[in-house]
Amino acid sequence: MAQTHSILVLPGDGIGPEVMAEAIKVLKAFETPSHKFELRQELIGGCSIDATGKSVTEEVKQAALASDAVLFAAVGGPKWDNARRGLDGPEGGLLQLRKAMDIYANLRPCSSSSPSASIAKEFSPFRHEILFGSGKDGEAEGVDFVVVRENCGGAYFGRKVEDPTYAMDEWGYSEAEIERVTRLAAEVALRHNPPWPVISLDKANVLASSRLWRRVVEKVMTTEYPQLKVVHQLADSASLILATNPRSLNGVILADNTFGDMISDQAGSIVGTLGVLPSASLNGLPGDKSLKTRPYGLYEPTHGSAPTIAGKNIANPVAMILCVALMFRYSLNMEAEATRLEDAVRKVLDKGLRTPDLGGTMGTKELGDAIVAEL
Ligand code: NAI
Ligand code: MG
Repeated sequence: MAQTHSILVLPGDGIGPEVMAEAIKVLKAFETPSHKFELRQELIGGCSIDATGKSVTEEVKQAALASDAVLFAAVGGPKWDNARRGLDGPEGGLLQLRKAMDIYANLRPCSSSSPSASIAKEFSPFRHEILFGSGKDGEAEGVDFVVVRENCGGAYFGRKVEDPTYAMDEWGYSEAEIERVTRLAAEVALRHNPPWPVISLDKANVLASSRLWRRVVEKVMTTEYPQLKVVHQLADSASLILATNPRSLNGVILADNTFGDMISDQAGSIVGTLGVLPSASLNGLPGDKSLKTRPYGLYEPTHGSAPTIAGKNIANPVAMILCVALMFRYSLNMEAEATRLEDAVRKVLDKGLRTPDLGGTMGTKELGDAIVAEL
C-alpha cells in the first residue's frame, strides 16, 4: 500500500538551509511507489523574525502538529543577538515549537560504530580499546547507546526564587511524567536488535525526586516490559563510567532533564565532533497506546547555525542527513531504510570523503551527492 508521509521542513538560519538541502536530496532518494514524501517548507528563527516579526508563527506550529515529522536545521546568528532574547529571539522559535508539540523525550544516539566509526577513530579523545574493545571484530562491539533525556520537566521548568542573596530551582517530577518517558525509553530499547537494557540514572541516595524516579521506572519496567533488563545507576558514577568504560553503558540511558543534559553533552565527546551527531525529540512512538495525540517527532542536528561558515558550501551535512535516518526509524516506521542510510554515510566517511571540519576537501553539496550515489 502506498504511504504518503507529510514532513514539515524548517531550514532556519546560517548553514541551516545548506545542510537541509542535502538532507532533502537524500530523503528524495528513498521515494518509491510505496513511500512518498509530501514536503512543506516554512520559516523559523531569525528568518521568520525578519519576515513576520515572530520567531515562529501560529501557522507553523499548527503545520508541525499536522505533520508526520518535522526536520529542523538550526536558528540564530549575530544579526539577531542583541535585539531579541527568550521566546522572542531566534531560539525561542524552537522552544515554542517544542512546547506546542510537547516533545518530552530528547534522544541522542552515540555510536562509535555505524555510521561514524572512522570519524571516532580519528577525532575521539578516547583510546581505541575504550571505544571499540580489543576483540578482532572490535568495531561491532564498540560504544553504542542512545541517551533518552526527559525534556519538559524537572529543574529547568520548576518554580524559581531569585533574590539577591538566595536562589532556588524546584526540581520536581510527577509519576505521570516519569511513566511516559520510561515507556518511550523502553520502546526505543525494544526497537534495537537484540533489545537493549534500559540504564536509568538518578541520585536516589540524596534527592527525593530521584527516589520517585527510581520507583516509577522500576514499576513501569517490571510490569510493562518484563522482557527488558533495567539497571539503576547513580548519575555521578555513570559519568565516571562514561569516561572510562563507555561500552558498559551500551543500551538506552534514561535520565531526567538535568542529568540527561549533562550526560548527553559528555556523550557527544565520544565521537569527537558535532558535525556528525543527530538528535530526535519525541512525544511518543507510533503504536504507543498511552498517546492522546498523534506521535510527534522533531529531528535536528546537535550543532547550531555556524554563521561564520554559512553560504560557503563547506558546512558538514552529515548530522542533518543522519536526522533523516532517525526520522525513518522513530516516526515513519522505516527501520530498513534507516539502516541503509546509516550504512551509506559510514561507507562515504570511511572512504575519506569529508568536509573541511573533518580535514576533508568536499563541499556540502558534493558530500550530499556522494551519499546519494552510495545509496
Ligand atoms: P555552532 O554549533 O553553530 O558552531 C560551533 C562550531 O562548530 C563553529 O566553529 C562552527 O563553525 C562549527 N560547526 C557547527 N556545525 C557545523 C557543521 N555542520 N559543519 C562544520 N562546522 C560546523 O554553535 P555556536 O557557534 O555556539 O552558535 C552559533 C549560532 O547558532 C548562535 O547564534 C547560536 O545561538 C545558534 N545555535 C543554535 C542552535 C539550534 O538552532 N538548535 C544550537 C546551538 C547554537
Ligand atoms: Mg546542553
